[in-house]
Amino acid sequence: SAAEKGGWPSFMKKEISEEPEAVANTLLGRVHDGAVTLTELDGVAEALAGVTRVVILGCGTASYAGMVGKYAIEAWARIPVDVELSHEFRYRDPVIDEKTLVVSVSQSGETMDTLMAVRYARQAGARTLSICNTQGATIPRESDAVLYTHAGPEVAVASTKAFVAQVTALYLLGLHLATLRGTLTEAEIAGQLTELEAVPAKIGQIVESASGRIAELAHWMSDTQSVLFLGRHVGYPVALEGALKLKELAYIHAEGFAAGELKHGPIALIEPGQIVFVVVPSPRDPKSLHKKVVSNIQEIRARGARVIAIAELGDVAVVPFADEVVRVPLAEPFFEPLLSVVPLHIFGMELATAKGLDVDQPRNLAKSVTVE
Ligand code: G6P
Repeated sequence: SAAEKGGWPSFMKKEISEEPEAVANTLLGRVHDGAVTLTELDGVAEALAGVTRVVILGCGTASYAGMVGKYAIEAWARIPVDVELSHEFRYRDPVIDEKTLVVSVSQSGETMDTLMAVRYARQAGARTLSICNTQGATIPRESDAVLYTHAGPEVAVASTKAFVAQVTALYLLGLHLATLRGTLTEAEIAGQLTELEAVPAKIGQIVESASGRIAELAHWMSDTQSVLFLGRHVGYPVALEGALKLKELAYIHAEGFAAGELKHGPIALIEPGQIVFVVVPSPRDPKSLHKKVVSNIQEIRARGARVIAIAELGDVAVVPFADEVVRVPLAEPFFEPLLSVVPLHIFGMELATAKGLDVDQPRNLAKSVTVE
């Protein structure tokens, strides 16, 4: 009802505006003096210390949060992490044992594919940890431990604020594992937490500063038939998430690619007028991925693509090659996805709105898919 939306035109618009709180509330009470405190994992502390492998399971947006988590958990805790769609995992005889930590990610905690995958993992002897946004849902009840995200109820069918909360929870888990395993120093952990705690205000700035311009862009693009998204490293799952939002909300063909994969196929898709969103890593990125992505932009621009770059404030290298630059505040590389995803959420919502579609209730979709 209109009252539940609290004056917002849609639940989705309200929920995107709540992305800062989704992160802040997921951190609340879990960071003390530069360290992570996850008392809810005390019961599985011994198991966590002996884990040799992590498998992250989810569907849709939750699986993309898992992909972001993989990069961070491997970098911080030095444990191999696989991310798999729940429905694929269960049907392919995965190799798992009691030293495998299976982390399920689900906003609703009721997605049947994920639930069945968790049950399968438990039977195979794995430790199961649920990252879930819904208190007392089936998946957390059937898992060895649960780390709740505190994004608040998400009503719009396509997930937005739950994504940033899921990434936050996975980051807390990654830093917790790094603490247990001694793979980061206390100072390094404190530094990452300081970055994480700065995220909510930065998301708030993006919602504030970019929404109007993105709505204009979406309005101009309301007849667009296809949009591509490129990203690299943690920006790759963000590209996938941006594309999923357009499929779900605006019913247009959209695809996300790893930018490095461009020359291995997708560049053949580029023709004059093709719109491409590019999630640009920070120029301060120690792995120098910025340069590579800027050269990808040059390649597609030379073939007539219309490029919308999501780039850090002050990144001037992209300006000559992009048709439009959406700015995000500075952050260390691992925290960029929590920022760069926000303009893509806004774009999906605005494109659907420009097309006169119901952004909260897209056709053919359910908020929680409780059948296989
Ligand atoms: C549905 C929704 C998606 C969501 C996915 C996983 O398909 O439309 O937005 O990402 O389910 O949902 P879950 O509740 O498991 O996170």
